[in-house]
Amino acid sequence: MANDSRIKDDDLVSAAKQTRDKAYAPYSRYKVGAAVRCNDGRVFTGANVESASYSLTCCAERVAIFKAVSEGCRCFEALAVVTDGPRPAAPCGACRQVLVEFSPAARIIMENLQGDRAEALARDYLPDAFLPTALPLRESES
Ligand code: THU
Repeated sequence: MANDSRIKDDDLVSAAKQTRDKAYAPYSRYKVGAAVRCNDGRVFTGANVESASYSLTCCAERVAIFKAVSEGCRCFEALAVVTDGPRPAAPCGACRQVLVEFSPAARIIMENLQGDRAEALARDYLPDAFLPTALPLRESES
């Protein structure tokens, strides 16, 4: 990998790691930090936010992606995810679904607090994904 890409990945992972500290996870005590890099270079971060009504919890990855999309970014080059565990953890199925809709080619960079790193492509993590093309939407509605 080119040195420049490695630095960009390291920066994205650092942003995810810092944001992990802001997780609101009093129920699971499992903090997750995420950061997406958009094709215009902007970076959006997210941490998981839990709720006393447990099922309302939102994962860190979706917080980051929704922040990006609501600021006008729909094309992601990379998503970094930082967790505390024996090995890097992959995004859950719901987050994979949301990511692949916008950027099937996005790289997912996963790291744990020990610095073990793993990488995958969004499309490889959700084969045969349900995509917007399955819906009878008109162009003006997208
Ligand atoms: N969580 C994430 O933030 N991302 C994932 O991909 C999987 C799980 C959060 C949700 C919940 O707050 C905690 O981790 C335990 O499931």
